[in-house]
Amino acid sequence: MLMIPVVLEDDFRPGRAIPLAPRMTSPENPWVLSLRGRRLAGRVTATAGAFALAATAVLLNGQASPNAALEAAAGSRAVADAADAATITITSIGFNSWKFEPANTDLAVGGTLKVFNNTSTPHTITSVAVGDDGPLFDVRIAPGETKTITTASTLRDGTYSFYCRFHRAMTGTLTIGAGGPVTTSPDFEQPLVQPPRLTGQHIKIVLRRSDVRVLPDGPKTPMLTFGGTFPGPTIVRRAGQDTKVTFVNRLPRKDGAVTVHQHAGHQKSKFDGQPDSHLIRHGKKLTYDYPLRDAGTPLPAALRFYHDHRMDLTARNNWLGLQGMFLTTDPRESKMGLPHGKYDIPLAITDRSFRADNRLTNPFKDMAGMTGMGGGPGSETIGNRVLVNGRFAPYKKVRPGLYRLRLFNSSLFSSYDFALSNGQPMTQIGTGSGLLPNPVTRQDVLLGPAQRADVIVDFRKFKDKNVQLQSILATKESTSGVGLMQFRVRGKPGPKFKVPDRLAKIQHYRVPKRVAKTWRFGLNDHNHWTINGKRFAPKRVDARVRLGSVQRWRLVNTSGFTHYIHLHEELWRTLERDGHKPPPWERGYEDTWKLDPGESVVVAARFTDYTGKFMIHCHMLDHEDDGMMATFEVVKKR
Ligand code: C2O
Ligand code: CU
Repeated sequence: MLMIPVVLEDDFRPGRAIPLAPRMTSPENPWVLSLRGRRLAGRVTATAGAFALAATAVLLNGQASPNAALEAAAGSRAVADAADAATITITSIGFNSWKFEPANTDLAVGGTLKVFNNTSTPHTITSVAVGDDGPLFDVRIAPGETKTITTASTLRDGTYSFYCRFHRAMTGTLTIGAGGPVTTSPDFEQPLVQPPRLTGQHIKIVLRRSDVRVLPDGPKTPMLTFGGTFPGPTIVRRAGQDTKVTFVNRLPRKDGAVTVHQHAGHQKSKFDGQPDSHLIRHGKKLTYDYPLRDAGTPLPAALRFYHDHRMDLTARNNWLGLQGMFLTTDPRESKMGLPHGKYDIPLAITDRSFRADNRLTNPFKDMAGMTGMGGGPGSETIGNRVLVNGRFAPYKKVRPGLYRLRLFNSSLFSSYDFALSNGQPMTQIGTGSGLLPNPVTRQDVLLGPAQRADVIVDFRKFKDKNVQLQSILATKESTSGVGLMQFRVRGKPGPKFKVPDRLAKIQHYRVPKRVAKTWRFGLNDHNHWTINGKRFAPKRVDARVRLGSVQRWRLVNTSGFTHYIHLHEELWRTLERDGHKPPPWERGYEDTWKLDPGESVVVAARFTDYTGKFMIHCHMLDHEDDGMMATFEVVKKR
């Protein structure tokens, strides 16, 4: 056995020698070193005589002998000497559809994998398997670009499924060496936490910079926060109870003015988080009035949220931490038998990337430089670690019983296809805007940015088992998932809860036959995201609506990219999806719709209570900031 002094960061004391088992795949190859028997996290750098190694440690957890392979890109042994090499080409196979060619690729251990993007759209090659640093590989490839997937050279024997984050229909496998299954989840090392709850009639939240525990080890992460935590405090109020929230901007002066939007709320225009007016400047405060009523009746109870909505900076400010949950409750729900109290668990799920010192990366600095495309299709703020309630890969102890999970995708750009690792379905009872008319059994629940699903999970048959909440790769062939958090089912059975067959009544009113407004989501000639061909301009009004009227609107995606479109202010419902009755989980109130390329939905709402300007926009925040936002103005009755 060769002894090499290794300098290790994070978990390890620097300068300690670690036994390394060297292995050469061929005399011509660079060294490939396997590091056995030790748990690795983070980056590893090593030096040995003439060799200088610098590689990202790849960790596959949950195995008896964790094993990380390091590629030694050493001295005169150039990486280009690598014997086995493969290239995957991304090709177009018709309008808005692409594939990896070949879809299944073999590579020797330590070999070189390149990916060539032969299309005019950006793609990623992203591993389903994750280590403590997120997907084992996750590389974005701009149109016309060829990239070497450096991590591929460090993978050990195994079959690694991959996909494109932007086009989940694009999938493939990479077989390294002899192939075989790989474990795909991080350790679940820290307990799930809930942000502090604020329940008063008049709430005060101070926005400030704060150091937050996000990753299990190492320093805390500096973030911009509501009230010092990430996510910010959860506001919990009974629907129908007037609520005032004073937000005080004590962020560093350079972070500028902010504005707060209660997503899916129904409030006066000036309290709606206008992107460029009614701002809260540095050192100032603003009290938002949230009556939590619509036309005199309580808003449907649901998990909504609040977040910064500043023009051009929404993605940045949310990335840095300005997000919090807003739970409205209705005592009738527990009377119906639904799980409540500690059996009702809000889960804000989002991704971020970190530097070695646990600070957040700054994806906004070099975005334009990297892609040369400004904020257009090249801008996608995606993190490589998924956080649940602000913690990476947490666990939660639960009873063998029924739980209500409020799944909330609070990411800027990513979507997650939620499923349970034990193969059990979930029962969806609501959206983020209220209960559904009837429960719906779902094997997986796909949520894009800002979307929420209210689901019941049943742990009764899983005593002493661990069950993961996963995000799965949505293909027919694969249900393998990435573990986001772990439920440890222990102890006595939980209370007797039940899910009634009838949940909520959706209000009835006559919707005009005529589509009053069509909103088209597309890309302009300068590669910017637009609505009806225009980028957002704060002074322009794109549609006027009479207060008191009922409107039928059509949302159409004319681009080659999936968007998640959000409408402010009213209790929206879905009348049609692509000309058909919407699926059962889209028959309640909705605020954000997934629109695949070419898709259209028809929605309706009654415009109640408030005149003024409100927004429609894509909730993939890079798109919103790029200008995929428009204004509708509610005007007085005639
Ligand atoms: Cu949650 Cu206009 O946004
Ligand atoms: Cu979009």
